[in-house]
Amino acid sequence: MSYLEKLKDLADRETQAEAGGGTYRIAKQHEAGKLTARERLEMLLDPGSFVELDKFVTHRCTDFGMQDQKFPGDGVVTGHGTIGGRMVCVFSQDFTVFGGSLSGAHAAKICKIMDLAVKTGAPLIGLNDSGGARIQEGVESLGGYAEIFWRNVQASGVVPQISVVLGPCAGGAVYSPAITDFIFMVENSSYMFVTGPDVIKTVTHEEVTKEALGGAEAHAEKSGVCHFVAPSEKACLASVRKLVGFLPQNNLDEAPVRKVDDAVDRLCNEILKILPNSPNKPYDIRKLIADVIDHGEFMEVHAGYAQNIVVGFARMAGKTVGIVANQPAFLAGCLDVAASLKGARFVRFCDAFNIPLITFVDVPGFLPGTSQEHGGIIKHGAKLLYAFAEATVPKVTLITRKAYGGAYDVMASKHIRADFNFAYPTAEIAVMGPEGAINILYRKEIAAAEKDGNLQEKRTRLVDLYREKFANPYKAAELGYIDQVIAPEETRRMLISSLNVLAGKRERGPARKHGNIPL
Ligand code: HXC
Repeated sequence: MSYLEKLKDLADRETQAEAGGGTYRIAKQHEAGKLTARERLEMLLDPGSFVELDKFVTHRCTDFGMQDQKFPGDGVVTGHGTIGGRMVCVFSQDFTVFGGSLSGAHAAKICKIMDLAVKTGAPLIGLNDSGGARIQEGVESLGGYAEIFWRNVQASGVVPQISVVLGPCAGGAVYSPAITDFIFMVENSSYMFVTGPDVIKTVTHEEVTKEALGGAEAHAEKSGVCHFVAPSEKACLASVRKLVGFLPQNNLDEAPVRKVDDAVDRLCNEILKILPNSPNKPYDIRKLIADVIDHGEFMEVHAGYAQNIVVGFARMAGKTVGIVANQPAFLAGCLDVAASLKGARFVRFCDAFNIPLITFVDVPGFLPGTSQEHGGIIKHGAKLLYAFAEATVPKVTLITRKAYGGAYDVMASKHIRADFNFAYPTAEIAVMGPEGAINILYRKEIAAAEKDGNLQEKRTRLVDLYREKFANPYKAAELGYIDQVIAPEETRRMLISSLNVLAGKRERGPARKHGNIPL
């Protein structure tokens, strides 16, 4: 072959690889409302930035007539590209080739790109759309999955790992996304389950649709497996780009700093309107957060799950922060099993990737009840406590209203080494709320008042007395547990100046193999 012929041959091979499973199967993919693996990468990455690797890899299977069915690339497109000019490593499963199923060769391609991500310190983004293990390959495929899982674990806390589920993801295959930091799903086209509806029907006689079992809504609201839901693939991939913009490239890097024109000393005039006068009236903590952060831009994580705690990313003076906040508008902001799990996982992500934490506290305590106790609130609540206590990133805490009982300790209190602890004058820091406290402290007086027929009057007086004495931030401030009581208008200025002071914070835990978080 002449040089020109060789170039033509290369171009032909590339065209063949780019054709995936062929026009018929691509049309089928489009009919199902799904994009192809390559279209997705185009949408995810900066234009023209994608560099493909292993384009000509094929499977090695010779059973079931597979030697006659080879598609260059073998059902997964891998490589690197940029998002906002910063490098990311990507793989995108191609459902048009053997249903995106995972062969040994397909797995090796993913592993190679995972290794590149760790070696170069770049985030890893996996676009999943697969029928699972390549049935014709048997154990070679299972081994391939396990190689991916192992790498997911090694990469955890080293580079951000993002899984985007854009089709089926079933069986053991769900465990790779589960180990990664964030899972995105699309309404009506993404599914994740360990066993599908047919197996469930056979084993337990339960009838359930795949949407109800493992669709985006189920995982975003019920199981908490999914962190972000989008109405379309386009919106989903735009959301992935947005998330990447908040994150550092790896654990040794700082998050990118964005130029902002939101003044660092801007007064937060909305907060007084948002905070109700009554300590028992709900309000939406997200409105308060929006008034404090740069331009009110908050990327909420797990928005549909455990809504009694709000977590997500924002910027303060252009720098990424992780926000954790009790949500008084949902279950009065109580901590329960789900909220503890959600909060703990987010805190650990931020800590692993050098993202300072701002914690807004308004918590009446842990949710009481047998379902919580039997559901393990002790061990799950301990996870949140553990996560805050082990985090060595800058930690700034603000008590807006209630901080009662064990939840006061857990929510990044001074005692578990938050760096700066602030409170509004409206804060109530106590062992429990006034109503519960007076029942215990004044049992006899209350019983006597009941006999005398002036119970309500007595209770009101005792509650006022208790509130005056304990339900304020000053006892904690006297003890140095609160560094400063601040006016709500000053919130943004105070938080930003604290983060600036803490920018050089260096703290290390004791040398050990690893701690033993109560799993
Ligand atoms: C090989 C597969 C495949 C698989 C699909 N295909 N899944 N090939 N191995 N696992 C092929 C089909 O033969 C078909 O090929 C093409 O992909 C598209 O599949 P369809 O069935 O036509 O598509 P659709 O109707 O959309 O259904 C998608 C599906 C279904 C729900 C994913 O294909 C399905 O149920 N597949 C099997 C899923 C499964 O049981 N996988 C194993 C799970 S256990 P042609 O040539 O017709 O285009 C597992 C263990 C992992 O994964 C363990 C890790 C530890």
